[in-house]
Amino acid sequence: MEKEKFYITTPIYYPSGNWHLGHCYTTVICDAISRFKRMQGKDVFFLTGTDEHGQKIEDKAKEQGKQPKEFIDGLVDSLKELWKVLDISYDKFIRTTDEQHVKSVQKIFKKLYEKGDIYKSEYEGLYCKPCESFWTETQAKDGKCPDCGREVEKVKEESYFFKLSKYQDRLLKLFEENSEFLQPNSRVKEMVNNFLKPGLQDLSVSRTSFKWGIPVDFDEKHVVYVWLDALTNYITALGFMSDDETLFNKYWPADVHMMAKEIVRFHSIIWPAILMALDVELPKKVYGHGWLLIGGDKLSKSKTENVKKDVVDPFILTDRYGVDAIRYFLLREIPFGQDGIYTNEIFLNRFNSDLANDLGNLLSRTTAMIEQNFDGIIPEIGVTEDIDNEIINMSEGLYERVSGLVDKLQIPAALDEIFKVVQRANKYIDETRPWVLAKEEGGKERLQTVLRNLSEVLRIVSTVLMPFITKTPSKIFKALGIKDAPTEFKNMDKFYLIEKGSKVEKGQPLFMRIDIKKENEALTKIAEEVSKKNAKKEMKMEEQKQKELITIDDFDKLQLKIALVTACEKVEKADKLLKLTVKLADEERTVVSGIAKNYTPEEMIGKKVVLISNLKPAKLKGIESQGMILCASDDKGNVILVSPEKDIEDGSEVF
Ligand code: ME8
Ligand code: MG
Repeated sequence: MEKEKFYITTPIYYPSGNWHLGHCYTTVICDAISRFKRMQGKDVFFLTGTDEHGQKIEDKAKEQGKQPKEFIDGLVDSLKELWKVLDISYDKFIRTTDEQHVKSVQKIFKKLYEKGDIYKSEYEGLYCKPCESFWTETQAKDGKCPDCGREVEKVKEESYFFKLSKYQDRLLKLFEENSEFLQPNSRVKEMVNNFLKPGLQDLSVSRTSFKWGIPVDFDEKHVVYVWLDALTNYITALGFMSDDETLFNKYWPADVHMMAKEIVRFHSIIWPAILMALDVELPKKVYGHGWLLIGGDKLSKSKTENVKKDVVDPFILTDRYGVDAIRYFLLREIPFGQDGIYTNEIFLNRFNSDLANDLGNLLSRTTAMIEQNFDGIIPEIGVTEDIDNEIINMSEGLYERVSGLVDKLQIPAALDEIFKVVQRANKYIDETRPWVLAKEEGGKERLQTVLRNLSEVLRIVSTVLMPFITKTPSKIFKALGIKDAPTEFKNMDKFYLIEKGSKVEKGQPLFMRIDIKKENEALTKIAEEVSKKNAKKEMKMEEQKQKELITIDDFDKLQLKIALVTACEKVEKADKLLKLTVKLADEERTVVSGIAKNYTPEEMIGKKVVLISNLKPAKLKGIESQGMILCASDDKGNVILVSPEKDIEDGSEVF
């Protein structure tokens, strides 16, 4: 029988490098859901990746004196490292600089252009560079971006437009007729009332003022607007409009696009409109979860430097507490759909109460009693009592309940269900009092049942926990003497499946209880150190920038003049150098220039060039060079002379 497919995506991340817990949230949720669906026997495709084009990235790379791709590669590696540390089981990591993506985007752009859904015009309006968003005067009140509150800039340039307005009615109908499409429901109102009802405007989908983007292949002056480039990743990753569309045919439409609320507008309005224009089916669900807040602030990359008291670096946290503690916190603590708060203390309390106390103790108490009373062999059922039924029923129905909640993307509630069983099992120990049974005459037969039941609860609980936390369940199986961890949920939720004679193995405690006060102090110290380091780094970069800027007075020191090349020859024993004789009005000079690989002496004669005429003379291969002529070079090794764009007298001042 063919497996049912399930396609889930995270947003593709801007390569910011300042990875924090907020970024991990979406990806960990998608990973848990993916693992859950795989254990249900589904054929899952889990996509994540990076969003690498745009002016913002071009600017940042320049700031660091790097080429954009070079600047990004290191950051992408660090993100992949993060996903490895967090046990993220993605099936594909797409980069928007991937050749196949680039080609598909060009084809998509062309197709929409040929169809008439993209047309050429001029854009005049406001632009928020950090968000890469266009705004109207009314939307960006007081010149501030409605999304991030930062200043917008006026831009005016030739641009291609996507006919978003054409899809307004179909989009409204989509929201009216399909309550499953965008969730949670509160976001639907926002989209309909704030964007759809007031009327959609056509969207500028190309830029000419910078280069770092996918070129529009039939008009190379333009690069594709970064959001059009980014959104299409969900289909180009599957080979849409490539030579091989197998994956696209198999997995599209997406079952879930997961993201935080600030980009829901792009995913629930612009993205469906693009798909409508392409005659491609719409995704089944767009889910906009809330933000992870720290001290009331969204953990955005630009704000991490404000975070002083709390450690939000996922590398530090996983290193200190293990990946399961971090995954558990993210999945459990943030009410789905709403914002959640992170502080070290909230995290540490969760760790102690749920992981160390509830789960950790249940296992250690159970295995310890089996060792003490049955030489470590998990006993068979002995005397049963009515009180057993509650814990049995609760455990046997656990998978079904959790599965229903996961289908509704109610992850915290799903974990809550699991831990209710853990808590109930701990209560079962208190009720049945095994330590009394052990000493009581005839108590052993009853004790057998209690400890067997507890072992079965632990087996079921850890099986259902497998998609959520990745390391602990196998430790529990090992402790229960279960050799092979299950790979599917099928046939696992009934009691008495642990093999007869299995021997427990009491290992290390699953989670060591933390002294919250002490630990919190330690974390505060770490957070302060991280802040200090970041502040230092930023200061250095700021200083660097200051250094690089020159004043108009600095520029005034330069004397630039137009010079006419009257004679030119190669410099002996120097294959790069040309010796030029240049004329500036009635003055003549000798200049040596490193352009022999790009220009022949014959070509040079008669050209007008720009000369730095007050440069201190310098000797090159024994020839005194009295100035320097201006050239331009690109990263492909092309070198060209800079010359006046119309004819002008030699000796003219350049300023
Ligand atoms: O927006 N709380 O990328 P991005 C919860 N490249 N989730 C958070 C978070 C927080 N504090 N901070 C970040 C972009 N996220 C575009 C997306 S998709 C075609 C293009 C998560 O790097 C959340 O999922 O700014 C958010 O939507 C995503 O990171 C955006 O990350
Ligand atoms: Mg963002």
